Amino acid sequence: MNTVKTVAELRAVIARARSQGKRIGLVPTMGNLHAGHIALVNTALRHADFVVASIFVNPLQFGRGEDLDSYPRTLAADQDKLVDAGCHLLFAPDVSEMYPDGMEQQTKVSVPVVSEGLCGASRPGHFDGVSTVVSKLFNMVQPDVAVFGQKDYQQLAVIRTMVRDLNMPVQIIGEPTVRAEDGLALSSRNGYLDDTQRHDAIALYRVLQGVVEAIQGGNNDLPALLQHASKDLGSAGFRPDYLEVREAASLRQPSAQDSQLVVLGAAFMGNTRLIDNIAFER
Ligand code: PAF
Repeated sequence: MNTVKTVAELRAVIARARSQGKRIGLVPTMGNLHAGHIALVNTALRHADFVVASIFVNPLQFGRGEDLDSYPRTLAADQDKLVDAGCHLLFAPDVSEMYPDGMEQQTKVSVPVVSEGLCGASRPGHFDGVSTVVSKLFNMVQPDVAVFGQKDYQQLAVIRTMVRDLNMPVQIIGEPTVRAEDGLALSSRNGYLDDTQRHDAIALYRVLQGVVEAIQGGNNDLPALLQHASKDLGSAGFRPDYLEVREAASLRQPSAQDSQLVVLGAAFMGNTRLIDNIAFER
């Protein structure tokens, strides 16, 4: 597996693969790869002949006071994991390659409505940063297919909407969340947790499971249910950011008729903000 750092090199390698009739898959990441990322690569390999992974800690999607500087950067270990997974090419650009004129002057892509509320409310500008960098990666790689994790449920909805609204010729695949044995969703940010926090962090998934079970059991009083669940998160050591049930595809507030739902939660364990979700049918 080659690693390239410039758009020119990336385009040259992909042009060769495409001239051989290969279908191109893209797995965008911010690195510090874990089994969840490798599942994305495996899925891309099932849908494409030539898989490109990108590693870029995108400053445009981090807000002031967030963990841009401390975000783990583990390129050598990530390269080894990608080689083992059978990835064909790694694109690992510097910030100056992605934003040569600086971030202020960068043309931005903004997806309304679906990016508002939930993480969009807690992290203003975050999804503009995501949709801008993903658009750029799509234009650089021109993949036939791209794979994203369902753990970042709202991000996936934003990207699907962007692709539809801007007629981007790429198939988007959502990969189910990979969990640790106890159920905690794998995330690079889990590495910030100390042992006690890591132990307590499972409460996020458990609380979401409790909400799903209650709704499937016929509880339709969502405000009371979510308030109760939020208290449970607090008792487990979390500082809840949001806990909401939404219609699964659009992420709008659910009506009584909607049967495809998703419960989404974000909460701080110490300084670490964790997110998780469960899509379900009622
Ligand atoms: O999910 C991530 O790792 C990032 O948000 C993404 C999609 C690679 C864009 O920077």
